[in-house]
Amino acid sequence: MTDMTKNVTENPIAANAEVGIDSLALYTPAFYIDLVELARKRGVDPDKFTNGIGQDQQAVAPSNQDIVTMGAAAALKALYFSGETEAAGFHDVGLLIVGTESGVDASKASALFVHDLIGLTPWCRCLEIKEACFGGTAALLTAYDYVKAHPDKKALVIAADIARYGLDTPGEVTQGAGAMAMVVSRDPRLMVLEPHSTAYSASIGDFWRPVYTDMALARGKYSTEQYVDFFGKVWKRYGQETGRTLADFAALCFHLPYTKMGMKAFKPVLDAWELLDEGSSGSLRKEPTDRLRDRYRLSTVYSRRVGNIYSGSLYLGLLSLLDNDPSLQEGDRIGLFSYGSGAVGEFFSGILRPGFRQVLHSDHTRAMLDKRFKLAIDSYERVFQDVVPYGPEDFTTTRQLLDKTNPFILDRVEGQERIYRRLGDSPRW
Ligand code: HMG
Repeated sequence: MTDMTKNVTENPIAANAEVGIDSLALYTPAFYIDLVELARKRGVDPDKFTNGIGQDQQAVAPSNQDIVTMGAAAALKALYFSGETEAAGFHDVGLLIVGTESGVDASKASALFVHDLIGLTPWCRCLEIKEACFGGTAALLTAYDYVKAHPDKKALVIAADIARYGLDTPGEVTQGAGAMAMVVSRDPRLMVLEPHSTAYSASIGDFWRPVYTDMALARGKYSTEQYVDFFGKVWKRYGQETGRTLADFAALCFHLPYTKMGMKAFKPVLDAWELLDEGSSGSLRKEPTDRLRDRYRLSTVYSRRVGNIYSGSLYLGLLSLLDNDPSLQEGDRIGLFSYGSGAVGEFFSGILRPGFRQVLHSDHTRAMLDKRFKLAIDSYERVFQDVVPYGPEDFTTTRQLLDKTNPFILDRVEGQERIYRRLGDSPRW
């Protein structure tokens, strides 16, 4: 986002407009597995999954759900939370971007399927954007630029993914499924995005997915090392560029492939801060690090139950923090670290707006998670293998696992085309 405002300085309204996230919504499928049960089935000590990795549950997407249906469900919620209604026609939305690494077509943007399902006006730019888990941030920052340049318009951002590594692989415990959606607007009610950010990119082979499979390949240990290294680099440079330190932040949120990951990167920075010599006293500086550690934990509450949703994972962490920390206040600065394998790391920030809690629908989000159905591990293994094939054959999706909280399904693949259906009216959120 560096220098974004320079592009629009000829437009005084745009240059002065505060732009950011007006609403934020999660959709995750109504099915999950218990990771203690998975550990037992795999012959692993459950403490490894719950403490070593930091995951308790994992969302499971049946074959009738994909990034389009999940993204559409999250998008409708975000639009409603933003005060838009289907009846009014969503006319303000001039841009729809889906950030994903689980694309359903190599050519057509998933945003077009979503656009159709949720009934946006045709006078809207639709596209899909990709850079592993960084895709959601790429979409958000592109939307920021768009609204800066078109302050009378809104942008709809979707970050949706299904993380699949394979049964009985080291990555299995870090799978997940879900979509985050954000409405980006001028004078946002949730969080103003600040213009400065620091990005770092390098072509590395830590995690990738060949085009003939829906299962990712990862150099697990190497990927965690790279994540830590990228955070260290962007945090240091961001500090040099802005003069900000930990003391300037109420909380930091991280991309969370599993909930222990962000803290692996954060801990060295927290430890270094505590050890800084405070003048002649030499005492440890525990403030603000205790608060930041506690808020990190609150940012992981939802991810512990959903798992890795790749491009949406950072924003799931942000929603978790906002929903679970009653002590956050308007004016608080939240730092956001986005990491996408391959790899890109970027650190940026936002400021909470007055009345931001009114835009959150915390009870809805908690109820969505609490009302999910637990699958036995044998059932999950069957669901995992019931997927649209990588081949030209027709495929009909399951009717046994229908999620009543999502009106959209992938019905079938016929003649190599995906056919989506809306089963009923939108639930009222
Ligand atoms: P692993 O090799 O099975 O696990 O794979 P481990 O042996 O490293 O153990 C994990 C932790 O559990 C360790 O703690 C162990 O000590 C601990 P740590 O050293 O990390 O602090 N442990 C125990 N704790 C308590 N009781 C026990 C016990 N046993 C062990 N009995 C790995 C773990 C994450 C590598 C694997 O799941 C994997 O490959 N996941 C996929 C890759 C991944 O998530 N990488 C993260 C960074 S890359 C990223 O974030 C991008 C990504 O989201 C993709 C994208 O950008 O699109 C992945």
